[in-house]
Amino acid sequence: MASRNAASLYTLVLLSSIVLLLLSHFQVSEAQVKPPIVKGLSWTFYQSSCPQLESLVRNHLKKVFQRDIGQAAGIVRIFFHDCFVQGCDGSVLLDAVSPNDESEKDTPPNVTLRPEALQTIEDLRALVHKQCGRVVSCADLTVLAAREAVFLSGGPNFPVPLGRRDSLNFSVAGTDNLPGPFSKTGGLLSAFGAQKFDTTDVVALSGAHSFGRSHCGAFFSRISPTLDSTMDSSFAASLQAICPTDSSPNTANLDVRTPNIFDNQYYVDLMNRQGLFVSDQDLFTDARTKNIVVSFAKNQKLFFDKFSQAMIKMSQLSVLTGKQGEIRAKCSATNGRKTPSSVLSSVVEDMEELTQF
Ligand code: HEM
Repeated sequence: MASRNAASLYTLVLLSSIVLLLLSHFQVSEAQVKPPIVKGLSWTFYQSSCPQLESLVRNHLKKVFQRDIGQAAGIVRIFFHDCFVQGCDGSVLLDAVSPNDESEKDTPPNVTLRPEALQTIEDLRALVHKQCGRVVSCADLTVLAAREAVFLSGGPNFPVPLGRRDSLNFSVAGTDNLPGPFSKTGGLLSAFGAQKFDTTDVVALSGAHSFGRSHCGAFFSRISPTLDSTMDSSFAASLQAICPTDSSPNTANLDVRTPNIFDNQYYVDLMNRQGLFVSDQDLFTDARTKNIVVSFAKNQKLFFDKFSQAMIKMSQLSVLTGKQGEIRAKCSATNGRKTPSSVLSSVVEDMEELTQF
């Protein structure tokens, strides 16, 4: 009897050691997956000030995407256009100061940002500030929403460091840095290279065109008056049916195979000459990027890993942290800008915050 007890005690100790060993292994490998981050950001930034932040964002977006899956792509594009211009500081969300003025949102690359996706970021702001007070920035909410948009559409679930603050200004001139759809690979490599992205990053980030849509003007000259020789002719015929003129209000899907799913089919499209923009298709023509396209088309996990790394990198471009900038009470206006409606909404919110403490 005593020896049986000793044997089961021994088995118990052995089993617990194996469990502990496995646990410590997983902790180490998770820590290894997280890349270095810029000063001021943290993987646990809201742990005490808003511990429920990530679940609030995920649950809200699940409901939004059930109603309108197109907003997932819309949010990821807003993230890109925010980070690429003056850094991830919420500058793209700001309205112009006066009706005669213009903001980043009024410039050509941004007029096609989806208004309903911009509204969803503001709705997240209101929801989160109601629960936690005015502690989470619009810049952080944009990054978190983009991560969720990718994940909830079938893409990778990657961690994002947090702690960004919102800008006090925007840069209309900075939107010139956004590459256009008629850019060739050389142009993309220099535009992204200027922000320290390498060739693999550029091909991986272009994979965000795995979902979402485009208006006709961004590809019309490829299908009319003559057909772009790098485009498959039946694909071109389907685009001609959607876009009778370049100003037609219709839209075409960016990924002809799985338009609403975040996966690697975009690269399969490119290999079949079904990329929508010059900037997409040229990645399969240019010798510097062709093999990367093929490797992503063959291996979705490789694409997801490289995409996640590049997104984490993008999410840290020129961020404001610490005492820089502010936490906006409304994503479309700086706190100092007093329009009648912002005065009212910030008073209401300050009162809501006071009742929390
Ligand atoms: C490589 C250079 C890029 C060019 C030239 C480019 C250009 C464009 C253009 C012209 C559109 C169509 C907009 C419209 O007509 O509504 C678009 C859509 C989109 N872009 Fe890009 N883009 C680039 C890179 C990126 C990157 C890096 C991301 C994100 C990481 C991204 C995410 C998206 C998404 C998700 C859409 C669909 C938006 C929607 O459905 O509302 N793009 N892009």
